[in-house]
Amino acid sequence: MTTRILCISGPNLHLLGTREPSIYGHVTLGEIHTRLATRAQALGAEIDARQTNHEGAIVDWIGEAPKEKFGGLLLNPGAYTHTSIAILDALQAVALPCVEVHLSNLDAREPFRRRSRIARACVARIAGFGADSYELALDGLLRVLARQSKRV
Ligand code: DQA
Repeated sequence: MTTRILCISGPNLHLLGTREPSIYGHVTLGEIHTRLATRAQALGAEIDARQTNHEGAIVDWIGEAPKEKFGGLLLNPGAYTHTSIAILDALQAVALPCVEVHLSNLDAREPFRRRSRIARACVARIAGFGADSYELALDGLLRVLARQSKRV
């Protein structure tokens, strides 16, 4: 069966391409989603990529992920990374492997971006590779899932 991955991007990421290009680059979120779909297909997986500006929608999508038969999550919660215990709780509730994704290198930015509220519920974090972070995170997540399926 094809591995289904849910990719969620949070607030302001729909503005990629024009949003602070010196930090986030010129690639749009639509282009990132296209690249992800191509990479997923090459690796025998399937991606459902979504964006929302609303914390509650992220919580809803994470909570519904097991029912929708997703095997893992790629999650860039944008600024909610640094604040959202509701997203942390949702991740802990579903217990699906999740890779935290960021375009920018959080450790090289303002101190408040160094704290991730969701990191403890994630298997890994990819940050600082610009748009490529998403594809690198997908590669990593699929490796984690392959390792897990060998264990059972
Ligand atoms: C971001 C980093 C966050 O600190 C910021 O609030 C974002 C984007 C990133 O992808 O680099 O919106 O998650």
